[in-house]
Amino acid sequence: MHNGLPRHVAIIMDGNGRWAHRRQLPRIAGHRAGVENVRAIVARCAELGIEYLTLFAFSSENWRRPPTEVRLLMDLFVHALDQEVQRLHENGVRLQVIGERKAFPVKLQRAIARAEAVTAENTGLTLVIAANYGGRWDITEAARRLAEQVRQGTLDPADITPEMLEEQLCLNDAPEPDLFIRSGGEQRISNYLLWQLAYTELHFTDCLWPDFDRHQFDLALKSFTRRQRRFGMTGEQIEHIEQPAADLPAEHLGTT
Ligand code: IPE
Ligand code: IPE
Ligand code: MG
Repeated sequence: MHNGLPRHVAIIMDGNGRWAHRRQLPRIAGHRAGVENVRAIVARCAELGIEYLTLFAFSSENWRRPPTEVRLLMDLFVHALDQEVQRLHENGVRLQVIGERKAFPVKLQRAIARAEAVTAENTGLTLVIAANYGGRWDITEAARRLAEQVRQGTLDPADITPEMLEEQLCLNDAPEPDLFIRSGGEQRISNYLLWQLAYTELHFTDCLWPDFDRHQFDLALKSFTRRQRRFGMTGEQIEHIEQPAADLPAEHLGTT
């Protein structure tokens, strides 16, 4: 942490469909407005020196939506990547995508690879897009990789630690999310970063994603800075240590 601000913010951008419905517009109009809003929040994070912003764009369960909405979302994703990559690059943003991308149309897979390659060396904000991502998928893949090491005889199951599983997860090179935000009024995790959110501060707001502007974002940050993160310790212990708890060595933070 620096200036009491989060290093890593993870967001479920929910409420695009309802935003459109209220305006008697098709759902895709809400998704388009949602993409516009991503630009504003990315700019705000870069301005504040936040290191990581992870956005849930499409869950592994969103394939259950009507095929036309899924197709339009894929097209929008390709379009947004192609349109935004240059601007992101100029602003020093490094873009990464997490999730099972093999399921996407080839056109989208290429757009993702291109955007990642162009911005790979940037040292500003890291913008992570979770697409066809699911927390259960992430943990399952990690378990599969450890199992593979066991099969090859390079790992004894008795030696497996939480840290070893964590190393195999998406976002293993990022600090754990400090702040989670969900717009759109629902108070659930919807199979987002199940492992990584273990000690994240949660912020839920009724504001629909296209309306979640920098003012709303700043309100979430303000609420975050007022909280005491205890990581299992007592409030008194936290008050008597000079280092913020998030900077303590891992062995003081239990299993994470
Ligand atoms: C979130 O908005 C965007 C995606 C899941 C792609 P929704 O489309 O879920 O919006 P609501 O929840 O129907 O309002
Ligand atoms: C979660 O939103 C996924 C994204 C925002 C991409 P959903 O709208 O799909 O979540 P549920 O179905 O209401 O839990
Ligand atoms: Mg929704």
